[in-house]
Amino acid sequence: MSTDPATDLGGSLPTAGAGSAASSEAGSEAAGAPVDAVVQLTGVGRVFRRSGGRQVTALDGIDLTVPRGSAFGVVGESGSGKTTLIRIVAGLERATSGRVVIDGTDITALPEKRLGSLRSTLQVVFQDPMGSLDPRMRIGRIVAEPLLAQRQRDDRRMERHVLDARVAEVLGQVGLEPDIVHRYPHQFSGGQRQRISIARAIAPDPAVLIADEAVSALDVTVRAQILDLIAEIAARRSLTLIFVSHDLSVIRRVCDRVAVLQSGRLVETGTTAEVYRHPRQEYTRQLLAAVPRLAESLAMARERAARSTGDDPIALREDGG
Ligand SMILES: Nc1ncnc2c1ncn2[C@@H]1O[C@H](COP(=O)(O)OP(=O)(O)OP(=O)(O)O)[C@@H](O)[C@H]1O
Ligand SMILES: [Mg+2]
Repeated sequence: MSTDPATDLGGSLPTAGAGSAASSEAGSEAAGAPVDAVVQLTGVGRVFRRSGGRQVTALDGIDLTVPRGSAFGVVGESGSGKTTLIRIVAGLERATSGRVVIDGTDITALPEKRLGSLRSTLQVVFQDPMGSLDPRMRIGRIVAEPLLAQRQRDDRRMERHVLDARVAEVLGQVGLEPDIVHRYPHQFSGGQRQRISIARAIAPDPAVLIADEAVSALDVTVRAQILDLIAEIAARRSLTLIFVSHDLSVIRRVCDRVAVLQSGRLVETGTTAEVYRHPRQEYTRQLLAAVPRLAESLAMARERAARSTGDDPIALREDGG
């Protein structure tokens, strides 16, 4: 019997990027094989100025390569710089030093106006779906938003029925009915709202999907379902997935590579299996030891549910499809 909870749960998952050309190339990085990098950071730093003139170094000298098609995890304790890092990658924040190359374009000094097209290349799903979904907007409008922005930027026509069909299509892909377009965010559960956020993110057909603590606020059983959905969508659409979490067991479930951040510095990077089994840094070992393991929490939730209802309500996909 395996004692590795991630293996127990993750074995049949269509782990995004696993076995793809990109990830095997990344695996032989050390041997000097070229990597098709969708994100390339060189010496990236970010200093924030707080009121009173005090400076905070959120990131310091980050060198990072995200191979195209991989599922790339970023892990670290609160305040380690994860969100700052992905905001820089998504063009929502500027680095104060270093170089940022996205999909072959150096965006380090790109004017704000030209960062716009980056927003459809990289889409972000945030932790709090309530905070990122406008409560006054109907679901149809929310999901169509990045498409409308894209249309405006490219000065392209998109017929109303094409837009509606696209919205219905992505809602279907996240397991929601197309007729929810007339409803509002508050009419949905946390898990459903996160599905809506994912639908909105994949609508403009991005090359990179970034999830920042996208499942952290969810109840453990819903968390597994949304995690699996993100992994499945990334694999099916051959997306590069950048998955940010403070929880290594969550990263282990969906990512083939991982970067560990500590106080704004990159302390460890490698395949998830390597880092999980043989962490080189004491900090990584502590992260591994500290987290309540997803599999264990799920098993406990299952047991509790089975005791109270006599059956198992947690429908985890076992078929990998
Ligand atoms: N806009 C800002 N102004 C000032 N300081 C900031 C700003 N954004 C982030 N910081 C600081 O930068 C550091 C890194 O923050 P960041 O949000 O990137 O961490 P994190 O790893 O995402 O944390 P968490 O797990 O809590 O989300 C922290 O010390 C934070 O206080
Ligand atoms: Mg954060």
